Amino acid sequence: MTDRIRKTFKCVVVGGGIAGVTCVEQLSSRLPSTDVALITAGPHIKAVTNYKQVAKVLEEFDVEEQPPSVLQEKFPNLTVIPSAVNTLHTQSHLVETADGHVYGYEKLCICSGARPKLLTQGKPYVLGIRDTDSAQEFQTQLTQAKRIVVIGNGGIALELVYEVEGCEVIWAVKDSAIGNTFFDAGAAQFLIPSLGADKPERAAPCKRARYTTEDPTAGEAQTFTADRHMRGRDSGPTEAGSALGPDWHQGLVLKGAERASRRVSVEYQCEVEQIFTSEEMLNSQSQTHKPDTEGTWPVYVRLTNGKTFGCDFVVSATGVTPNTEPFLHGNNFALADDGGLRIDDHMVTSEPDVYAAGDVCTACWEHSPLWQQMRLWTQARQMGWHAGRCMAARVLSEAIELDFCFELFSHITKFFNYKVVLLGKFNAQGLGSDYELLLRCTKGQEYVKVVLQGGRMVGAVLIGETDLEETFENLILNQMDLTAYGEDLLNPNVDIEDYFD
Ligand SMILES: Cc1cc2nc3c(=O)[nH]c(=O)nc-3n(C[C@H](O)[C@H](O)[C@H](O)COP(=O)(O)OP(=O)(O)OC[C@H]3O[C@@H](n4cnc5c(N)ncnc54)[C@H](O)[C@@H]3O)c2cc1C
Ligand SMILES: *[C@@H]1O[C@H](CO)[C@@H](O)[C@H](O)[C@H]1NC(C)=O
Repeated sequence: MTDRIRKTFKCVVVGGGIAGVTCVEQLSSRLPSTDVALITAGPHIKAVTNYKQVAKVLEEFDVEEQPPSVLQEKFPNLTVIPSAVNTLHTQSHLVETADGHVYGYEKLCICSGARPKLLTQGKPYVLGIRDTDSAQEFQTQLTQAKRIVVIGNGGIALELVYEVEGCEVIWAVKDSAIGNTFFDAGAAQFLIPSLGADKPERAAPCKRARYTTEDPTAGEAQTFTADRHMRGRDSGPTEAGSALGPDWHQGLVLKGAERASRRVSVEYQCEVEQIFTSEEMLNSQSQTHKPDTEGTWPVYVRLTNGKTFGCDFVVSATGVTPNTEPFLHGNNFALADDGGLRIDDHMVTSEPDVYAAGDVCTACWEHSPLWQQMRLWTQARQMGWHAGRCMAARVLSEAIELDFCFELFSHITKFFNYKVVLLGKFNAQGLGSDYELLLRCTKGQEYVKVVLQGGRMVGAVLIGETDLEETFENLILNQMDLTAYGEDLLNPNVDIEDYFD
């Protein structure tokens, strides 16, 4: 093997996604005369463009596909190798690529991303969505479809369901509310009307912050657990099923006006039990497989709630699995429960001189109480950046600390065409029942939720143009005791920026 070494680089980065590209940029700009290689399987690299630091931690940027030559022009000492790494030998510090070459490294950073978890291996009519481009590709294919079933409740499913038009969507989620990865039931309720409308209509502010909902399986009115901790700024009487969304009950059948441009029905608290082809369906005499839908379809999905739907295809958006496979054989990587490469606060894996960043890794340092890992663009960039800095610091024998961005979880995105800002423990993650929520909501316009613990702000969800992100980020970072402000914190008639200047 050693006699086949083509070249040995000081630093090798594997993967041309956001993590890998950001890492390479850091390395190449900090160590301009060092030999750096980027080995990537895809024909394009993913670049961060229009980067904007919104506040101390909050950032916003676009993601763009570019030819690798763009990077090479910027960094003449960078070599881009367009191939996939097949094997890694951490002892001898070598990687072998699919095109049969062997490269040596002194330091390696694995940024190979993640793969979508596929529902069923090799079943026809089941699609996994890999990235935004295949999502667009999927949208084109959709033109032939009359009905699809979407499985999953993360950001991808959320986005997808909203984007699909002119096709009926059955959306199966394992939770009791949509978008559980990002939102609580209240935010979900705020967003739900968007699925039934072409344009969000303006409406009066909701009467109360307190909300209840129906558990679709129980059929009984049930109050969400978070409700116990909820204080609304409006002290009206509470009643079941009031306020935020009109269609929340009854298993939610939402029809898009006359043209039926968007038609989504949500099946709550269920997962896929089985997927049948139309032949399997025909051959099955069993009554239990009788579809709940008319007509003949290429594929049928049986859900754990007992319903069976025929559709044109199934979209599986049930999360991702770290792409570690090519690197594990013959090595001794410590893996986290979610399958990611365990890394410490210097982005180092358990193998010598091997770093990792982005979706492929699992952050195993002791987290700040206001941060959690989520496999998102923001964190791929932040981790790639930190990994590049750590590797460079190591080469230069400099000391380096965990970057400030890991102090506070922050993410800006768009869901259902609303701007969404998530800060800290935005869903009271890991707080048990020891927290309080403040809520403000104007239907079709904004949804503001603040998570307080011991009088201090520990998280927030801001949907719409709230203009509160910078102030709230500050309040979370400085952990000021807000008890004295009470519900004025969300009073729209109080300019809270003035309060804290
Ligand atoms: C459909 C979809 C929509 C999403 N939308 C959003 C969103 O709106 N906002 C958001 O924040 N996040 C979103 N995400 C998540 C986000 O895309 C990821 O968190 C992020 O891209 C991770 O970046 P990465 O660099 O770690 O990995 P990736 O972007 O997956 O890049 C991995 C790179 O490694 C290369 N590679 C893989 N294996 C090898 C190998 N063996 N050898 C060489 N190269 C290899 C690949 O070719 C690729 O270039 C979305 C994800 C999906 C799937
Ligand atoms: C590339 O590296 C060489 C030395 O290896 C150095 O002289 C040169 O300045 C570097 N190029 C740039 C653009 O930094």
